[in-house]
Amino acid sequence: MKILIANKSHASYAEIICNTIEESAKVRGTGIARRTPEYIINKMEKGNAVIALDGEKFAGFCYIETWSHDKYVANSGLIVHPDFRHQGLAKDIKNVIFDHSRTKYPDAKIFGITTGLAVMKINYDLGYQPVTFSELTDDETFWKGCQTCKNYDVLTRTEHKMCLCTGMLYDPEKKKETKKIEKPKSKFNDKAFQRLKHIKQTLFYRKEKSEK
Ligand SMILES: CC(C)(COP(=O)(O)OP(=O)(O)OC[C@H]1O[C@@H](n2cnc3c(N)ncnc32)[C@H](O)[C@@H]1OP(=O)(O)O)[C@@H](O)C(=O)NCCC(=O)NCCS
Repeated sequence: MKILIANKSHASYAEIICNTIEESAKVRGTGIARRTPEYIINKMEKGNAVIALDGEKFAGFCYIETWSHDKYVANSGLIVHPDFRHQGLAKDIKNVIFDHSRTKYPDAKIFGITTGLAVMKINYDLGYQPVTFSELTDDETFWKGCQTCKNYDVLTRTEHKMCLCTGMLYDPEKKKETKKIEKPKSKFNDKAFQRLKHIKQTLFYRKEKSEK
């Protein structure tokens, strides 16, 4: 398995990347920010994407987005092809794109929003912390990306304060401070995250039904 910084020679994979993202969202029944092959190709050409290939076969992908004049970076669109899941590939891809983001944008805060437990776990291990949406970028174009998500009405209803996704943030400044104190790192508590997701779903979906 090769995990590479993608370039224009990988443009032929854009179609399968988009299809795999869309198919997986259907299976999960969750929301997704939809992306076009042109958008993916643009990321590859700018050196802002990571692709995993098993020989010539597409295995996984993730890309970098920048917001608020490069003050915020998101590692988005993580996808592992179903044939390659549960082998640690998502973790490896996220490690590569995280290091690439830190090199390219050393002062940026790195953030993500997700409903996926696997992603929360990986982000937590990389040093991200769960935060409220108010700590994330206020760049409108980022939040516009949520328009294609099926839960977008929840986000608008709460005036962008919360949604089904959990916000997670890696703040390089805070990392420097905590390094000085060297606190022991606590283990990712997946039960707590699962419970939080369940509470949010119950809360938001019930409200939605009672409003109909
Ligand atoms: C989510 C996804 C990227 C995980 O890929 P993967 O290569 O199977 O993940 P890994 O093998 O690297 O697993 C990383 C960790 O997440 C856990 N994990 C993987 N899939 C999981 C799942 N469905 N539910 C809960 N935890 C999961 C693994 O056990 C592992 O934890 P560990 O470090 O404690 O062992 C893949 O299932 C996928 O592409 N799904 C569809 C798209 C998606 O959900 N993208 C995220 C959008 S935010």
